[in-house]
Amino acid sequence: MSGSNAAVDQELAPIAACTISRDVQAFDLLIEDMETELGEAWGDLSIDDALAFFEQPDSDALEFVAIAMDDQDEANLAQIAEVIRRAEAKGIKALVVAEEVSPIALHQLLKVGAEEFIPYPLPDGALHDAIERMRTPEPAAPPATAPQTPQGPKVSDHDREGVLIAVHGLAGGSGATTLAVNLAWELATVDKKDPPRVCLLDLDLQFGSISTFLDLPRREVIYEILSDTESVDEESFMTSLLTFNNRLHVFTAPSEMLPLDLVTSDDVMTVIDMARANFDYVIVDMPTTVVQWTESVLTAAHVYFATIELDMRSAQNALRMIRALKAEELPAEKLRYVLNRAPKFTDISGRGRVKKLAESLDISIEVQLPDGAKQVVQAGDHGVPLAEAATKNPLRKEIQKLAQKLHAVGAEEKAATK
Ligand SMILES: Nc1ncnc2c1ncn2[C@@H]1O[C@H](COP(=O)(O)OP(=O)(O)O)[C@@H](O)[C@H]1O
Ligand SMILES: [Mg+2]
Repeated sequence: MSGSNAAVDQELAPIAACTISRDVQAFDLLIEDMETELGEAWGDLSIDDALAFFEQPDSDALEFVAIAMDDQDEANLAQIAEVIRRAEAKGIKALVVAEEVSPIALHQLLKVGAEEFIPYPLPDGALHDAIERMRTPEPAAPPATAPQTPQGPKVSDHDREGVLIAVHGLAGGSGATTLAVNLAWELATVDKKDPPRVCLLDLDLQFGSISTFLDLPRREVIYEILSDTESVDEESFMTSLLTFNNRLHVFTAPSEMLPLDLVTSDDVMTVIDMARANFDYVIVDMPTTVVQWTESVLTAAHVYFATIELDMRSAQNALRMIRALKAEELPAEKLRYVLNRAPKFTDISGRGRVKKLAESLDISIEVQLPDGAKQVVQAGDHGVPLAEAATKNPLRKEIQKLAQKLHAVGAEEKAATK
């Protein structure tokens, strides 16, 4: 093992963890976070040294190792896998800190026993959360027949055929993303005892902002997946998801702007189908523009929300959308209109305008969401759902009710088919 490393050699502080990498200096954020989490009780090893270190009694006290790697290390994947295997055999947990590593490679590392992986640059608190998760024993699971897969979204053992809910803003800024994010979070927390598995897909491929709303990094792998869905399997799809607060799984928009015509209906449906197979609810944030795959999502969706506001622009866009759908003989009646920033119940003239809008478009407005004022923007800026930032916000309460209703309908249907 490397004699040059002071921390590992130090006798005073017992070493609880180690980073393992080609060059830890290339991962300075990891160094910072390790210091925050462990003070001086950690060391650094090269990949070669790690294997030798596991042979020594010093390594018995290790709680975990953090293997930091980037795309260059993929050539050396077998050796890294060996490090993980040996760590696991000794009861040492292995985290993978990965910068631009392909989903296929990550998948292999998870398979040989890596506990989970964290993207690099490390999102705020990501290492801390991973360590916490590692330390908390998994909730009593039904007797496992399959070997325990590592932490993180797991491929579901049965085909779930999740409920597909799409949200499409008919005018920019009408609150589609706000609704998608908060609805997803409310569904993920709707039943404390038996929380449904929820996946949020940001398919607003060019301007998607879910990663901002939930303070998640945008990841390169998303671009790879969308541009080559044929070579993606369920497991690599699952490893491409990020987890928000340990509960909600998110497929962010790609970090690079993706040319819209690069993505076909088949690509989008492949991703949606994989998500549906593994989750109880799949919430999709759609782009405002109608694209060639809008139709496929509309057809597949159980519920397709269209958000509008009480203004001329929304009314005109809604009208255009309805006409376009009808011209293509698409099920325009499937759109469920959500009026955002709806006038208060006490606002009589406002309510009159809502009625007129619905009549002139010949639609019914099924959901009205109140203005949640500044708190809504603030929650978004802080990267948390309203439920976390402003529990009593009127917008939050309405979206919570909507989630409860949707979940109740789902539960009834499930019961009926049993
Ligand atoms: N009901 C509401 N009350 C207050 N602010 C809202 C409400 N709905 C949306 N917002 C804010 O308006 C902005 C645009 O919302 P967003 O969800 O991004 O719209 P879209 O996805 O349709 O473009 C965001 O800053 C959001 O926080
Ligand atoms: Mg949006």
